[in-house]
Amino acid sequence: MKLSRFGRLLAQDSPIVQLMEDLGEALSRNPDLLFLGGGNPAKVPAAQQCFQTHLRGLVEDTDAANSLLGVYPAPQGDDRTLRALAGFLSRECGWPVSEADIAIVSGSQLAFFILFNLFAGVDDSESSRQVLLPLVPEYLGYGAQGLGDDFFQTRKPLLRLTQANRFKYALDTADLQVGPEVGAICVSRPTNPSGNLLTNAEMDQLLTLARQAGVPLLVDLAYGSPFPGLVYQACENPWRAGSVHVLSLSKLGLPGVRTAVVVADPEVIHCVARANTIMSLANGNLGPALLERMIDSGDLSLLGRTVLPDFYRARRDQLVALLDNALKGLPYRIHEPEGAFFIWLWLENLPGGSQALYANLKEKGVLVMAGESFFFEWQSTWAHARECVRLTYCQPPEVLARAVEIIAAEVRRLYAV
Ligand SMILES: Cc1ncc(COP(=O)(O)O)c(C=O)c1O
Repeated sequence: MKLSRFGRLLAQDSPIVQLMEDLGEALSRNPDLLFLGGGNPAKVPAAQQCFQTHLRGLVEDTDAANSLLGVYPAPQGDDRTLRALAGFLSRECGWPVSEADIAIVSGSQLAFFILFNLFAGVDDSESSRQVLLPLVPEYLGYGAQGLGDDFFQTRKPLLRLTQANRFKYALDTADLQVGPEVGAICVSRPTNPSGNLLTNAEMDQLLTLARQAGVPLLVDLAYGSPFPGLVYQACENPWRAGSVHVLSLSKLGLPGVRTAVVVADPEVIHCVARANTIMSLANGNLGPALLERMIDSGDLSLLGRTVLPDFYRARRDQLVALLDNALKGLPYRIHEPEGAFFIWLWLENLPGGSQALYANLKEKGVLVMAGESFFFEWQSTWAHARECVRLTYCQPPEVLARAVEIIAAEVRRLYAV
């Protein structure tokens, strides 16, 4: 089979492809695996009940059901959904946005594919532009999204030891020059995989750098506020003009509806909507219809403010306590778990590295994520990149407990203690 250059890029094996294959295996083919790997959200009973109520409402309303199934939505999203979202975002976050600032896309993975390739790659003057990831480790799913070589430049963070067995990454501002080759800056907040929450000061610094360089700051709110709201401490989320914010319904508990929301200047929204139309013609109607009903009923606000953060905070505390107990005496550190639903575990000088730990654990029926791929170009040159694993706390407490027992036994075996 002869593939084009783009064809090769699009069909390549990559960490996100492996991650989704692992996820598929664990969730459908081998449900006995203790799954602390991919980013599937937890089953949160109150949220599931809410989704079911609104789904039933849609099915039982003949007009709504007919529109759901029988109508192509407008390229940017239907006016009613966009109006509801604009009202929600101004009420919840104080963002001064209207329908013109919002586009619906089929999932934030697609949103970032569009945004990255709008702003980076070869431009009209034949210069190559890159996406700057100012702090790795960062979401590995960005990795294969550039339709060009050398698509990303990335920076190592400062690494602060915050307290016994804890640490936290910080932006290394001394290493943050933004050259003319940068087409966009991108961060996830809170960050997948570390659960780090970039501070307001760090966000302001990034915005200043982006403005000086005349490029957008892309802020991935897949886990952030106002929904799903998986942030476990005070967090301001003001409107930062010149930013592009991307929200998703996935971590709210609806990854199956493939719906994300891009919020940006109308000029950007116009480009995103056109690109989305070229690639997928139109979005599905289910996500936007549920979104509208959850906004009108007040449920979206409730889920993002209390239901989901309370649920995940309790799971986080359970997993942290289990790990602190089981890894006592070992050279481990947990990244301060400030948001998202991951524990980022650093095992200093781990014999064999995290890839070996991942493989051994998989054999023993526990799936975790090895850390290397989250470090982009630093994975081969920074020892720290081979000493981290990501664990999700979306599974029930008994699964977390069994998994931690197996993980701790394997880690002790590798350290030979
Ligand atoms: C940080 C981050 N951004 C984007 C995505 C893509 O999510 P979706 O396409 O389901 O909205 C994920 C999924 O895990 C993620 O962790």
